[in-house]
Amino acid sequence: MKVGILTMSDKGSRGEREDKSSEEIIEKIKQIQGQVEYYKIIPDDFDVIKEELFYCCDMLELDLVLTTGGTGFSPRDNTPEATMAVVQKQVPGIPEAMRMKSFSKTPKAMLSRAVAGIRGDTLIINLPGSPKGVRECLEVVLPVLPHGIDILTGRGGECGGK
Ligand code: MTE
Repeated sequence: MKVGILTMSDKGSRGEREDKSSEEIIEKIKQIQGQVEYYKIIPDDFDVIKEELFYCCDMLELDLVLTTGGTGFSPRDNTPEATMAVVQKQVPGIPEAMRMKSFSKTPKAMLSRAVAGIRGDTLIINLPGSPKGVRECLEVVLPVLPHGIDILTGRGGECGGK
């Protein structure tokens, strides 16, 4: 599974904040044998995020892009909007499940406007910007991702007959 990680952070992109969230993703993604083939910290800028997502999907043809940060209420939080501008199909069940499960750990889970969707053969999932948020949300989605990616990429995953 070819994985890309995009960290959205104005401060991080200026070198003023350490990116602990992507470290968390790199660690967790090992559980499903994900190979991180692309990683970048970018500012919370709608057009920059959109261009990076296009690059990951159309040029690098990654299977999975995990974004972290920029899903909250700040005026500079643009990740869901940029993701929606790029995807061709929405996958609402993924953020619904992340918020539902996380809510038992923190009611603040409802403050993430994260979305997920598909562009071509690439699945994009928004995660919150904290290592804790990343960890809690990935714990929810990781177990089902290999099956979803197999179906998306045509590598298998027939489930209609069961
Ligand atoms: N989800 C989980 N599972 N755990 C968390 O700690 N933090 C919340 C929420 N989602 C959190 C979470 C908080 S405090 C915010 S403000 C939003 O994610 C948005 O975070 P972001 O702007 O860093 O993306």
